Amino acid sequence: MGRSYKIAVIQGDGTGPEVILEGLKVLRAVSDRSGFDVELMTYDIGGERYLKTNETLPDSVLQELKTASAIYLGAIGHPEVKPGILEKGILLRLRFELDQYINLRPVKLYPGVWTPLKDKGPNEIDFTVVRENTEGIYAGIGGTFKRGTPDEVALQVDLNTRKGVERCIRYAYELTKQRSAKKKLTLCAKTNVLTYAHDLWARVFEEVGKEYPEVSQDYSHVDALVMWMVKSPEVFDVVVTNNMFGDIITDLGAMIQGGLGIAAGGNINPNGVSMFEPIGGSAPKYAGKGVINPLAAIVALSMLLSHIGERGAADLVEEAVKQVTATKLKSLAAGKMGYSTSEVGDLVVAALGAAVTA
Ligand code: IPM
Ligand code: MN
Repeated sequence: MGRSYKIAVIQGDGTGPEVILEGLKVLRAVSDRSGFDVELMTYDIGGERYLKTNETLPDSVLQELKTASAIYLGAIGHPEVKPGILEKGILLRLRFELDQYINLRPVKLYPGVWTPLKDKGPNEIDFTVVRENTEGIYAGIGGTFKRGTPDEVALQVDLNTRKGVERCIRYAYELTKQRSAKKKLTLCAKTNVLTYAHDLWARVFEEVGKEYPEVSQDYSHVDALVMWMVKSPEVFDVVVTNNMFGDIITDLGAMIQGGLGIAAGGNINPNGVSMFEPIGGSAPKYAGKGVINPLAAIVALSMLLSHIGERGAADLVEEAVKQVTATKLKSLAAGKMGYSTSEVGDLVVAALGAAVTA
C-alpha cells in the first residue's frame, strides 16, 4: 500500500482561506509528483463560526483532529470578535490540548528577498527559534482583585515546570545536532532578573547540554539578543527560549527574513499531532482581495511535509519557493508582489514541475 496521510485543514479567518487554497494547490501538485495520497478533513473553525454559533473549538472537532497526521492552519483572528476569545479558545487551546510543546520558527532569508538589514543576505540570516509553546505566561494562570477600582490588582503567572523546560531544551539540542555545521545552541532568557524561573532554564540548559558534547552552548539575555538579531544575525544557529520571549523575537525574525509574507512556523508535538501555520495572522484588511502573499502558507506546508516524513516533497516545495522569490516576485508585501495570490501559487506549482524535470 502507498503512503497516505490525513491532513486536517483549518482555513480560519481573514486571508487564511486564500493562502490555504494556494497551499493545497501546491500540496496536490507535490503529492502527485512524489507519489503519496492525501485525505483532507476540513473544519470551519474561526471567527465566523463563533459569531454564528458562539462556539470556538467544539470537543468533537478536537477529538477528530487527534486522528490527523497533521493540521494545516490558515489564521485565527476576527475584527468583530473581542481580542482573546479566538486566540485562547482556538489557537492556544489547540496548542495546549494537543500538547504541541514546541513552536518551531525558522528565520531564513530566501534568495532575492529584501531584508531591512544592510549588507546581510541568505548566508547571514539563517537560524531557527525553538519557542516553548505550552507554558510560561501563556498558561493563563492568574486573576484580578478589585477589578475596575483604583485598588485593582492583576496577576498573570509565569509557569515554568522542570518537565516543560527540559523537553523543550532537549528538543532544541537534538535539532541543533542535526541542523547545520555550526552546531551552536543559544539560550535566550533573562537570568539577571528572573532569578527563579530562568535559573531553572539555565540549569537545565547546562545539564542536558552534557549529553550533547558536539553542540556548543551560548547564552544571551533577551534584550541583548534582539540587538544581535539586527546587528549580527549570522551568530545564531538555533535559539531556544520561553513562550513569551519566543513570541516577540520571532516577529522580529519575520521582519529580517522579509516579512510576514514568508514567515512560517510549526506547533509541534513530537509524539502527537502537530500543526503548521503562516505566522502572520488573519490580516483582515487584505481579505478577499487576492493580494495576500501565500508563500508563508506554502513554506508552512513544506514544514508539514517534512514533519510527516515526506522530506523529498518538503525540499521540492522549499526549492520551488526559493525559485519564485529569486526570479519572480517584486516584493513579498501584500499587493506589491507583481502577481495576485493565486498567481503566486501557480508560480510555485510551475517551479515544482521545473525542479522535477531538471
Ligand atoms: C503567534 C501569535 C499568537 C501567540 C497569538 C495570536 C495568541 O502571536 O502565534 O505568535 O502569541 O502565540
Ligand atoms: Mn506572535
